Amino acid sequence: MPRPLIYITLVLVALTLVPIGCIYRARHSVKRHPRIQVVYDMDNQFYYKAQHENEFFPDDRAMRLPVEGTVARGDLRADDPFNRGRVEGDTTFVTEFPVAVDEALMARGQERFRIYCAPCHGLSGNGNGMVNVRATALAEGTWTPPTDLTSQAVVDRPVGHIFNTITNGIRNMPSYRDQIRIRDRWAIVAYVRALQLSRNATLADLPAEAQQALSQ
Ligand code: HEC
Repeated sequence: MPRPLIYITLVLVALTLVPIGCIYRARHSVKRHPRIQVVYDMDNQFYYKAQHENEFFPDDRAMRLPVEGTVARGDLRADDPFNRGRVEGDTTFVTEFPVAVDEALMARGQERFRIYCAPCHGLSGNGNGMVNVRATALAEGTWTPPTDLTSQAVVDRPVGHIFNTITNGIRNMPSYRDQIRIRDRWAIVAYVRALQLSRNATLADLPAEAQQALSQ
């Protein structure tokens, strides 16, 4: 074989390795730019971002409101006592729990209370949670102390009112409707009632043996 032919063959063999090298590098390196796309398919889709304009609609808003009267699945909320803490078709607050109050509900209420309410109202509900301790120490003069949940004022509140306080907030207390599900709100109300009972208990509320044990 003539020499030039050997050289050309060697060069060609070397060149066949180049694409393999390129593929290897492409698969094993980090890229700064998006890959080149010959066929886009659905990889890159045009879409409107939140608050963008869209001339297709008469009001030019890309974000659409639900059609009037639309109710999302499971969002009918037809039961006033359970969903709003109010007497059916009325604005009066319910005085009876619209859910069965049992040990499981109470345990759930205790757990949720300690997460959502105790930071301000304290573990025992007396209004001296960590947030209050800190805010009082800062003494900025803008802090409204959280209400003592075992005080007579809150004892006298109907359960529906306390439920409403969690749902919509009250005066300086924010609303917790987005954080706490409806059933959990009732669980918390039940636990608040338990705190009130335990914090305001008298000797006469104890069973006879416990009374005796204490008076010895
Ligand atoms: C960020 C602190 C904070 C958290 C958390 C908080 N509260 Fe309050 N809460 C307050 C403050 C402050 C007030 C007093 C508001 C006022 O008088 O302006 C209050 C008042 C109340 C009252 C008395 C309302 C009335 O009838 O006058 C109830 C009941 C109550 N909170 C329940 C709860 C429950 C239940 C939770 C947990 C789901 C909770 N709060 C979580 C700060 C908080």
